[in-house]
Order: sequence, then C-alpha cells, then structure tokens
Amino acid sequence: MTQVRPPAQSKPLDRAFALEAVRVTEAAAIAAYHQIGRGNEHDADHAAVEAMRLAFNALPIDGTVVIGEGERDEAPMLFIGEKVGQGGLAVDIALDPLEGTTLTAKAMANALAVMAMAEPGTMLNAPDTYMDKIAIGPGYRDGLIDLDAEPADNINAIAKAKGCRAEEITALVMDRPRHEALIAKIRASGAKVKLITDGDVAGVIETTDPTTNVDIYMGQGGAPEGVLAAAALRCVGGQMQGRLVFRNDDERARAAKWGVKDLNRKYGLHELVSGDVVFSATGVTDGSMLRGVHRVGEFITTESVVMRSATGTVRWIRTRHRRGA
Ligand code: FBP
Repeated sequence: MTQVRPPAQSKPLDRAFALEAVRVTEAAAIAAYHQIGRGNEHDADHAAVEAMRLAFNALPIDGTVVIGEGERDEAPMLFIGEKVGQGGLAVDIALDPLEGTTLTAKAMANALAVMAMAEPGTMLNAPDTYMDKIAIGPGYRDGLIDLDAEPADNINAIAKAKGCRAEEITALVMDRPRHEALIAKIRASGAKVKLITDGDVAGVIETTDPTTNVDIYMGQGGAPEGVLAAAALRCVGGQMQGRLVFRNDDERARAAKWGVKDLNRKYGLHELVSGDVVFSATGVTDGSMLRGVHRVGEFITTESVVMRSATGTVRWIRTRHRRGA
C-alpha cells in the first residue's frame, strides 16, 4: 500500500520539536553502545544508522537527508536525498549516527551520535571530502581569526583578545601526518597543542566550553563533520571558517553534483549553516562534553545536549531508559 504523507509544512523549528529531536541521537547512541570495544567499526556504525533511521521515521517531519551516510548507491540507509519522517514540518537533516566509529570500536573517549535539523536549503550540501577548518568559541570580535592567516597570527590575535600570552593558548588539532607542519607552526608560536585521534565535531565544540581550556580548533577533518560542528556553533555562538579540500577529480565532481559552484570558496559560519537550526548530540562513550551510554541495573542511561539557534538555548538531558522499551 502506498503511504500518503501529509503535505509538508514550513514554519520555524519550534521548541517542543527540539526535545523530540533528542530521541533520534539517543536511539543511535544506545544501539552503538552494544558495539563499544568490540573492534568492529562497521557493525557499530550499522547499528547506529539503523536505529537513527527508525527514530527519524517516528518524527512528525518531512525530512530530507542532506548530509548522511553517503550517496544512494553506496549507503542503503540515511543516504543523501533520503526522505524520513511521518510527514509534517519540512526540514533538511545533517546526521552522523556514529561520529567516531573507531573510538567506539576501541572503547575510546568522545564518540557521539549527532544530528542537526534546519530550515530547508540552509545547510551546505557538503560532499564527503575533507574540509580545512578553523573555529573559536563565543565572546570575540567578529573576524578575529582567518583560515588563510598564519597559525601564529591567529594564536596571537586570540592571546591579545584574552589579555594573555601565546604560551597560554591551546589549539586542538587532529593527530594526523597531514598536520605535521601545522602542529610545528602552532608550537613555534608558543601555544600548546591538544591532539585528538578522532571526532572533530566534539573537537570544534570544545572551543565553546571554557572548562576544556581549548581556545581554537585548526586543521583538516571531514566536510560533513564541519557542517555538523557549524550547526552547533550557530546555536552556542563562536566563529568558524571552512574550505573544501579535494584529493581528486571524483571528489570535485561530487561537490559540483551537490551544487558547489566555487570549489575554492571560504565559507563562514553563516554560510555553512544559514538558517534556524536544532542540533542534538548524545554521548556513546564517555567524553569531554557528554557522558556515554551506561547500563545501570535494569536501565540504560544516556546524556545528550540539544541546542536551538533561534534562542541560543542549550539543554543537557540525562535520560533513564527502561531496557528493551
Ligand atoms: P568516522 O566516525 O566516520 O570514522 O569519522 C571520524 C573522524 O575522526 C571525524 O571526526 C573527522 O572529521 C574525520 O574522521 C577525519 O578523517 P580522517 O580519519 O580521514 O582523518
């Protein structure tokens, strides 16, 4: 029988809806929990994807996946362009059911289930390439940092704005051979470098939390993760710039296919995500931002953060789920 979807509505993402959104990342995180430490990235990701898709399909939305698990021919579920939801509010969705598949497989810190929902047409349709990124938290004058400036200039600008020495600034960078020169330049400026093995959505968000001591994120990570991080920054404040990085013509062709006209464009935060957005993340493994999924007697516990750009409200939600419910 053909399912009839109610006509799509177009109205701002309302606040009750933001709380519904958390169920989606909770479901993915709980599914991934069973795969923590099992050394199997594929199974961990698959479990999270399946659970997130089911949860999306229970929501009263007319959702279109714009950043998902890949293109239709390579991802059976939550592929780019897939329609999800029961029908209702029209939204574009950026998702990563398991941000940190290796972190999960190895039971390491900071794996998250993540998604953002925005007004249609307001998130960059980022292809699955790398993105050069730079990000800082809120409270600085606009234009303080620049993706094209020397690392030392960005570090010194932050130090000056904070009224401290460059030696007191910490930059977060992914621990990759491609970042050797960047790391050397940051250290030469006097600043400290905090290295992470994976999970740069959480890495960018760390810049917005003064308790982490991370002042700036720099380097190359996934482009889809860049848009997800930008969605969070749109809600909590901060600055970010990104530029797509292509390794071959196939990646350039993918970008063109998704509507990217200027392949060398430097995107500002409001160009990565321009509209009203809701961001939700649930911890899979314990991390700097969120506690992971735990089993406590007959319950499963989760910790999530849900943010809305319209109001800047940030909610931390600790949930106790009856197992099997
Ligand atoms: P996955 O969860 O898809 O493995 O991504 C993890 C991640 O570390 C992202 O956070 C980051 O943006 C990207 O991989 C970096 O890619 P690479 O591992 O190729 O450097």
